[in-house]
Amino acid sequence: MHIKTSHGWELSERDATPEPLMLARRGLMAAAAGTAALGIPLVARAQGAPRNAKYDGGRELTSERDATTYNNYYEFGTDKSISRAAQRLPITPWTIKFDGMVGKPRTMDFDDILKRVQLEERVYRHRCVEGWAMTVPWTGFPLKDLVAIAEPMASARYVVMETLADPKAMPGLRISSFEWPYIEGVTMAEANNDLAFIATGLFGKSIPKQNGAPLRLVLPWKYGFKSVKSIVKLTFTDKKPTTFWEGIQPQEYGFWANVNPEVPHPRWSQATERLLGNDQRVPTRIYNGYGEFVAELYAGMPNEKLFI
Ligand code: MTE
Repeated sequence: MHIKTSHGWELSERDATPEPLMLARRGLMAAAAGTAALGIPLVARAQGAPRNAKYDGGRELTSERDATTYNNYYEFGTDKSISRAAQRLPITPWTIKFDGMVGKPRTMDFDDILKRVQLEERVYRHRCVEGWAMTVPWTGFPLKDLVAIAEPMASARYVVMETLADPKAMPGLRISSFEWPYIEGVTMAEANNDLAFIATGLFGKSIPKQNGAPLRLVLPWKYGFKSVKSIVKLTFTDKKPTTFWEGIQPQEYGFWANVNPEVPHPRWSQATERLLGNDQRVPTRIYNGYGEFVAELYAGMPNEKLFI
């Protein structure tokens, strides 16, 4: 992962269109584009989901343009400008496999999963380990609801989530020093924490491919690399997994990766973060400011590297 500090394209769209007007227009545009005919159920994946006021971001929203054009998705390339390349991601049909320590291993159609969950919108802060941050409205449902659908055994201790690895669509898979597919993992307690979210939408629309369509994890108290994109598999296990970045550089990217301004990355400080869009630098907060929801998960773990 690299740090970039300036970009020519950062234009503010904040004042562009009032929200209700924009939503109405999006609805019309979606209908006009015949998205249902393309098999992309826009409405079911994002639109009209009520906002959960419990999570409000506490900061000005990052513009949709910035959030959708400055991305990390190494399967499509190692720089931030992968939004065009990512349009090759095939997302219809999409299935999710549940395996490992589950009562019955099986593969489910993503649309059938959507019928069993309640969508809501949450505004979360996102803090990348590289030192940039954004605040965006995700639509989706709690990760614990997906875990419940998988029906893991009581003895499962971790859930590992895996990104699609399609060499035809993803040129980044040619980087052979990386161990594809991209995987991430959390403990069952973390997975069942209400803050852990599966996003299916962003800014009231289906989540763009570059942001992890059709479903990605969002763990706002951890560095962004934990938030694995385009999930095709959940594996339940009693063994701590070696996650994608941990496998590449364990001293720099660990399993826990909880945000902490006091614990520097081996190559840079984590004390502050740069807000996408205006390049303002603001102080970073422990657990990215979500300590009231998650700090108790880590009580009594003195020997774990919780912040790397
Ligand atoms: N998931 C996959 N499959 N591949 C990736 O390269 N990058 C991670 C995470 N999830 C990544 C991924 C990192 S480092 C970050 S900061 C976030 O995605 C970026 O999400 P965004 O592009 O939606 O801002």
